[in-house]
Amino acid sequence: MSQSNEFSGKTAVISGAAGGIGLALSEALAAQGMNIVMADIDAAALAQSSEDLRSKGYKVITCSLDVTDYAQWEGVVAEAKEAFGKIHMVINNAGVGGSPGKIEDSEAETWRWVMDVNVMGVLYGAQACVPAIKEHGEGGWVLNVASMAGLMGMPYAGAYCASKAAVVSMTESWMPELEPFNIHTSVLCPAFVKTRIHESYRNRQEKYAVATEKRIDKEKLKAGAKAATMAVESGIPVSMLAERVLEALRSKQTYIYTHPNYRKVTRGRAKAIDNGFVDAENSSVVGHLINDDIVTF
Ligand SMILES: NC(=O)c1ccc[n+]([C@@H]2O[C@H](COP(=O)([O-])OP(=O)(O)OC[C@H]3O[C@@H](n4cnc5c(N)ncnc54)[C@H](O)[C@@H]3O)[C@@H](O)[C@H]2O)c1
Repeated sequence: MSQSNEFSGKTAVISGAAGGIGLALSEALAAQGMNIVMADIDAAALAQSSEDLRSKGYKVITCSLDVTDYAQWEGVVAEAKEAFGKIHMVINNAGVGGSPGKIEDSEAETWRWVMDVNVMGVLYGAQACVPAIKEHGEGGWVLNVASMAGLMGMPYAGAYCASKAAVVSMTESWMPELEPFNIHTSVLCPAFVKTRIHESYRNRQEKYAVATEKRIDKEKLKAGAKAATMAVESGIPVSMLAERVLEALRSKQTYIYTHPNYRKVTRGRAKAIDNGFVDAENSSVVGHLINDDIVTF
């Protein structure tokens, strides 16, 4: 266990903590002396992972949580307060990959699943935990786990990319909102990390099941799934990601990247977006608006 630091004695609620990135972050923050509320939909994996952390002497409780159900989030907050008194940090990490495929092969139920877990799950986590972080006045952290996919489009992965772009935008909206409360808000955008994200369907809830007659031909999905598996398996280890996140939180970084080699991708995108403005400035229809004030609210 480390010496006293900005995390020690404080409490973090982490969704999707039974495995992968959520488990690695749970362990890294527990090692800094935090109390950890591990929440996940997968009860068996959660029991095993939490036992491992307890056996190392860390202060951990577990909560059963489907992030798409706000009432369950309220239960997590109540259990966290009962166990540890206060909440200082929420890490909205639970997320699913969906299944890659062409536009015409998209299943509405899969899109709803991805959007509900990856977007509504993040909103509900913040809605439930932010009031608890505000109420003690000591400040804290909101960390939303997006992806590089939230900063770039990827063919055949529209649902995942759209959901992660939403997480980036939500975080950008919450940064100025939470800053006056001394709540540091940041977004984690990793590229590939070696986890079980490519097997997300293992925890797909019944309510998002696709009717058999509407289900896409499995052969069509196989090629995309194979490419996704290879990419994830080539990813960085979760321990490296967790170490990087600690480094970034300590120095209050807001966009937290784990793969600096992707900078050329976001630069290219920023340039393409900017080029669109050059076209608008040169437009005979709207070019005269160039010196108008920017309107926000
Ligand atoms: N692995 C990568 O390459 C990668 C890259 C960028 C971003 N991410 C993001 O990292 C986050 C964590 O994913 P991971 O890679 O560790 O995958 P993972 O599948 O190994 O872990 C995800 C965890 O979330 C849980 N979960 C799934 N649905 C849930 C729900 N409805 N409610 C509560 N828990 C639920 C799972 O049970 C699992 O424990 C996700 O948001 C993912 O999109 C992953």
